[in-house]
Amino acid sequence: MTFVLLTLLLSVPLLALCGSPRALVVWHGLGDSYQSPGMVQFFDEVKKIHSGIFIHSVYIDEDLDNDRKAGFVYGNVNTQLELVAEQLASVPELKDGFDAMGFSQGGQFLRAYVERYNSPPVHNLITFGSQHMGVSDIPACRRYDFLCQAARRAAKGAVYSRWAQQNIISAQYYRDPTNLPAYLSSNHFLPYINNELPEARNETYKRQFTSLNKLILMIFTEDQTVVPKESAWFGAEVVEDNSWLSQRPFSLFRTEKTIVPMRQQRIYTEDWIGLKELDERSAIVFDSCKGEHMHMGDCWKPIVEKFTGGLD
Ligand SMILES: *[C@@H]1O[C@H](CO)[C@@H](O)[C@H](O)[C@H]1NC(C)=O
Repeated sequence: MTFVLLTLLLSVPLLALCGSPRALVVWHGLGDSYQSPGMVQFFDEVKKIHSGIFIHSVYIDEDLDNDRKAGFVYGNVNTQLELVAEQLASVPELKDGFDAMGFSQGGQFLRAYVERYNSPPVHNLITFGSQHMGVSDIPACRRYDFLCQAARRAAKGAVYSRWAQQNIISAQYYRDPTNLPAYLSSNHFLPYINNELPEARNETYKRQFTSLNKLILMIFTEDQTVVPKESAWFGAEVVEDNSWLSQRPFSLFRTEKTIVPMRQQRIYTEDWIGLKELDERSAIVFDSCKGEHMHMGDCWKPIVEKFTGGLD
């Protein structure tokens, strides 16, 4: 009896010390797939830092090519999120929770997972170059990616059309500061997860988002793909008041866009999703990678060391 008790008492701290690192979930970016060579290489690097770490790469389709396409066309984010929530709940290694890392659009999708589902729960959420406040332009495509180019043209032409909103992923986080009413009434994803609609504000989103241990927001300093790049830090272009503009035609020639930083956004000051609460708890980490969108270099290493695997 004493022996059993002693073994139990001893094994608790030992388990904490030698137990495997906290699991990690990664959601890839637009134009990538869940097991692309780049992703696989990244996972290998992470495993060198946290030996024995379990990594789950989020997929929409197990077929790699379809998975890549699902990131751009053929998709409704809300439906994809439901699918991903079921997927994460079905992985035994994730049942005690995990850290989550989102690349580009994968970042705001993982945030939506936290707000809507969070079962199993996310401990630290890390996003790289994500579009938390949307984009005011559609990201450019790779040169010979004709599918992407066709989708982009269609999206730009009719971004708030019913078809685009149901089928083109990036249209679902397009937030046009010159026409906010159209965005608020037609976009069925971003205004919801940002709790921008007073009549549809969901307290669960805020409660689950503020349950995060840390929110790590990485921006790419030379990002030319995400417009504006400050969306990665919850910044956005100033919302234009069209009635005021029409009285002052000269302001139409203005080319510099003013960026409103997170702490001056209403989503923050009125704390629609809990950003202010997290910030006041010092739970938001703002950091940057030097370079163009998703040119990660080694900037992810200290982040992975510090915020994944279970130390913080
Ligand atoms: C708020 O979000 C939760 C989680 O997704 C959902 O279960 C609930 O139905 C939503 N509430 C409203 C009023 O839409």
